[in-house]
Amino acid sequence: MDDTDVGADLEKILVSQDQIHDKIVELAAEIDRDYAGRDLLLVGVLKGALMVMADLSRALHSPVTMDWMAVSSYGSGTKSSGVVRILKDLDGDISGKHVLVVEDIIDSGLTLSWLLLNLRSRGPASVDVFALLRKPEAAQVPVGVRYVGFDIPSEFVVGYGLDYGERYRNLPFVGTLAPHVYGA
Ligand code: PRP
Repeated sequence: MDDTDVGADLEKILVSQDQIHDKIVELAAEIDRDYAGRDLLLVGVLKGALMVMADLSRALHSPVTMDWMAVSSYGSGTKSSGVVRILKDLDGDISGKHVLVVEDIIDSGLTLSWLLLNLRSRGPASVDVFALLRKPEAAQVPVGVRYVGFDIPSEFVVGYGLDYGERYRNLPFVGTLAPHVYGA
């Protein structure tokens, strides 16, 4: 799926497929260096982190393992509710492990700050965060993020894993939607 398939629904492309690819390769090299000689567990946060997890894990040269959590902080609309629910927990124990949480986006930071507290209570050797996108202007709580792809303006974005009403996740870029899509 690309911009021609969404036609007038798309307002603009904020981060292109090439920009995403290049940034992930660059950050993967950093991660390989930082975790050299240590076993790394990537924890993807479903569903949004699906694409970034697939591309980041394949760009790494280290033999990582992967696990997944599904949490929900959004309803069907575009605003963070601040209420985090675990929809699916990790399959494995993380005690003593080096964990890198892989997120598509940090918006208010509420999901991640809750998630980090939760994961740290399980006794891992370390917990750090990789986020492809971050909205500095939307931050409600400070969250330490070790690897950030792009700081973006506080606009509602879709694509590359991010949805509006579960649609647009399979766009290969990150973009904004035209007002008519929201019924404006
Ligand atoms: C998105 C995103 C983050 C969270 C960020 O997930 O993947 O987990 O919101 O928002 P916050 O910083 O304001 O807490 P969402 O709850 O939309 O679920 P999804 O990944 O299944 O789309």
